[in-house]
Amino acid sequence: MRIFIFALLSQLQNSISAQIRAFAVMARSWRKLPIPSRICQFAPSATLRQNHRICVGKRVLQLTLLISTLTAYTPKDYSNLLGMQGFSDPLLQMHFKLYEGYVKNSTDLLAKLKSMTDPTTYEYGALKRRFGWEFDGMRLHELYFGNLGGKAPLDKGSLLYQAILSQFGSFEKWKKDFIATGTIRGIGWALLYLDREQGQLINVWINEHDTGHLAQGYPILIMDVFEHAYMPQYGLDKGKYIDAFFSNIDWSVVAKRYSQ
Ligand SMILES: [Fe+2]
Repeated sequence: MRIFIFALLSQLQNSISAQIRAFAVMARSWRKLPIPSRICQFAPSATLRQNHRICVGKRVLQLTLLISTLTAYTPKDYSNLLGMQGFSDPLLQMHFKLYEGYVKNSTDLLAKLKSMTDPTTYEYGALKRRFGWEFDGMRLHELYFGNLGGKAPLDKGSLLYQAILSQFGSFEKWKKDFIATGTIRGIGWALLYLDREQGQLINVWINEHDTGHLAQGYPILIMDVFEHAYMPQYGLDKGKYIDAFFSNIDWSVVAKRYSQ
């Protein structure tokens, strides 16, 4: 009998403890809710239950907005480049539009991937592969437009100039190699990369947007050599476009990328 009473009391105590713990958890969660949601939780009437649904809707909306904020990329404004000698305004405006497409697609694709519940499907895998292409298309254009709009040559006292001198022998030798990289047949990018592991400067050909990047490499100077970057203005004369590119490099930006 004593054992039975002890077991009953013990059971009651456990039950009360569990109830207290559950209540404490509920109270903590309730306190974290915004006041309108707290009211909605205890809605006794139809009107308030209706409000409850509105409150839940608000929470979902808040969450959706939060997720959207995390995944959204915003196109940057490069209209300061309009009027640049050697780049017609229609060419630049078309290029800005194309860049904005990569920004939108990066945002949409990332949101789509996050919304997919089964990451083992072919569709998920295909979109995952596609993401690097869209994202690099966005970032490379930002780096490209970002290193345009300058007039002054590279400061000979800068760390970058000194590094080019010691690694290539002369600025002209480096430039010759960079131009040769940019004139490789095909569509892509010419990049001056800094191998941060060893401090090495390397001119690199990037095929499309996503093939050929150097792991741990940091992009210093970026030149777009997709056909859309020059053909509307220069036709097949890629060399003339490259001359125009070199006349407009903002070397202060490029030197800063190197010294950062
Ligand atoms: Fe481009």
